[in-house]
Amino acid sequence: MEAPRTDEDIRDVNTRYHDVAADSYDAKWGIDFGEPGQAQVLMKLRKVLDRGVLEHGFERSLEIGSGTGYFSLNLLQAGVIRQATCTDISPGMLATLRSNAERLGLEVETVATGAEELPFADASFDLVLGHAILHHIPDLAQAFAEFNRVLKPGGTVVFAGEPSRYGDRLARVPKRGAAAVAPLWRRAIGARAADAIPYANGNGNGHDPHAADHALERFVDIHAFAPGDLAAAARGAGFDAVTVRGEELVANWFGWTNRVLEATAVPEDVPWGWRQYAYRGYLALQQLDQRLLEGRLPAAIFYNLLIAAQKPL
Ligand SMILES: C[S@@+](CC[C@H](N)C(=O)[O-])C[C@H]1O[C@@H](n2cnc3c(N)ncnc32)[C@H](O)[C@@H]1O
Repeated sequence: MEAPRTDEDIRDVNTRYHDVAADSYDAKWGIDFGEPGQAQVLMKLRKVLDRGVLEHGFERSLEIGSGTGYFSLNLLQAGVIRQATCTDISPGMLATLRSNAERLGLEVETVATGAEELPFADASFDLVLGHAILHHIPDLAQAFAEFNRVLKPGGTVVFAGEPSRYGDRLARVPKRGAAAVAPLWRRAIGARAADAIPYANGNGNGHDPHAADHALERFVDIHAFAPGDLAAAARGAGFDAVTVRGEELVANWFGWTNRVLEATAVPEDVPWGWRQYAYRGYLALQQLDQRLLEGRLPAAIFYNLLIAAQKPL
């Protein structure tokens, strides 16, 4: 397939790709709505928002590209937001979000919309937030102008999980290393190669109706940012008190190494002990990044960027 050319094509590819991904999204990315999930989301927000602001919380929040609800559903449970509106360009993702919310006994409003044209009145929300979404948006300046318009004066905008341009380049090293040693690793754990089993990554019955849409994955991520890019987008839309930080370096290299290794094996052949090692190792290294590296090294080299800013009063 040819790369999408216009902004409209990019939005269309994002909608189709994420509609197809919606059912398996939480399992693929290990999304959790219990205490570990809430702790992860809070840990991220604490990096760019004052403790007092988080303790006070937000009355009305608007999430952009909310996917299956990772941020809003965890923040509702943690008591940080009280009324959540969740938006996404993919109706499929919002359907999964609604069933997650129902299972957790949470009330949310969902609205299918792109980020650059929000169907809400001016000054409607106290908080506009998102996770891993800005890098999908074709017209970032227009999107930030919309975030500003729908926020009340003094309102907060916060985004986390945005790919950093240099962090992404650095992460290619462990990814390549893992791909090179994958056959040895599979032999060591006694796993079959994923491609030895036809359709091991499809729907299991020998026919993947969405094969073409899975192939869209490489077209949906359209930006990777330097910290200054995000700060400029926020300031250009009229925000002030802009903070940009980087997170995850060693944890990310460890995580990608394991993800690449695991992707080469038939999932059922990967031992439970290995998965525990990968999960617990990642959490331990996240702490190491946070305590030793994030305050000392430039934001640009970390894998993920976070930004927070305020609409002037
Ligand atoms: C990487 S997923 C992140 C989902 C969720 N925030 C999370 O962290 O699990 C990106 C989400 O952004 C949505 N999206 C992509 N382009 C968008 C756009 N232009 N406007 C609004 N949402 C968009 C996708 O449908 C998808 O649900």
